[in-house]
Amino acid sequence: MDTAIIPADEAGIALGAALLREGRLVAFPTETVYGLGANGLDSGAVRAIFEAKGRPADNPLILHIAHNDALDALVREVPETARVLMAHFWPGALTLILPRAACVPDIVTGGLDTVAVRMPSHPVARALIERAGCPVAAPSANRSGRPSPTRAGHVFADMDGRIPLILDGGACAVGLESTVLDLTGVRPVLLRPGGVTPEQLLPYLPDLHLDAAISRPMAEGEKPRSPGTKYRHYAPTASLSIVVGAPELAARAMAGLYDRAETEGSRAALLVTRQLGALMGDRRCYVLGEAGDSAGMAAALFDSLRALDADNIQVAYAQDFHAGGMGLALMNRLSRAAAFQRLDAATVIAELAAASKE
Ligand code: TXA
Ligand code: MG
Repeated sequence: MDTAIIPADEAGIALGAALLREGRLVAFPTETVYGLGANGLDSGAVRAIFEAKGRPADNPLILHIAHNDALDALVREVPETARVLMAHFWPGALTLILPRAACVPDIVTGGLDTVAVRMPSHPVARALIERAGCPVAAPSANRSGRPSPTRAGHVFADMDGRIPLILDGGACAVGLESTVLDLTGVRPVLLRPGGVTPEQLLPYLPDLHLDAAISRPMAEGEKPRSPGTKYRHYAPTASLSIVVGAPELAARAMAGLYDRAETEGSRAALLVTRQLGALMGDRRCYVLGEAGDSAGMAAALFDSLRALDADNIQVAYAQDFHAGGMGLALMNRLSRAAAFQRLDAATVIAELAAASKE
């Protein structure tokens, strides 16, 4: 199959909508990441998404809608909390998990009794859904396990030959996925941090609970609340570790680790803030953004993870960028890309010093 990339203008959107109505797949921009869309009420079309991505069948999809009214047909009830959140955060990067209506195919929900729904704010996504006239099931448009795509070129790199059409709407503003919030239990549970931060949600959800899987790997045999959290994700080919410690300690540890990797013949790189990068001399650095600008760094993360692969990096070390706001989502994605490998900067410095005396 030939994969066309065309501008996400009127004609592009019309073609995309026509393909969706025929049960075909279309990749399109949203404000978070590029989505791989299909008619969400057509099981056969949705099955093609799983095939194109190589996605495990038990990992459910988000249904995207263009108007609040479209929600009622997809869910059995809309709790008052959901109405309040929709009023404040839709359209936008917030996905709500609600009790699923009978018309939603099993393949969309992975057989769960709940369904994920979101209204994107990107004008191309909205227009495409509207023109298609159906809810659009869409995961991120990457091959399963790869970093999510934030540009049309990323989608092409993963999906060339697997889908008929990519609508190019430029770079995604948020750059990582939506926040996934489960409203089906007694307390609201944040399953995946994303474009809407816990700080933004708390005024409306004082009893918000953060799912444990956000900041640690799943234990053997543990049943995740969000099936997606059990898979390794966002991973570059390079072996990636996070170096934890105050900036000046982290800088010394990262310089030492980089130099050791290069001495051993590996191609190394560092993922850093501009401030730390300035201390790294001519070592190969991927600068995510200014220290403290977690939204800016979040927007740059997936692009940098893909650049590691494109530049044939074998070993990479990232700073611990944690800060408030988007920092939680940024570190969640980075930790998963690093398979939760964390190194303590002070310990690293001591070990490198001991090794150099041997
Ligand atoms: O920003 C986004 O959310 C992007 C754009 C395209 O909208 N989409 C996206 O989809 O990230 P995907 O499939 O890559 O991630 C959806 C996440 C997965 O972790 C999945 O397990 C979870 O949402 N999810 C979907 N339905 C669920 C359900 N009924 N219960 C619990 N988790 C669910
Ligand atoms: Mg994804």
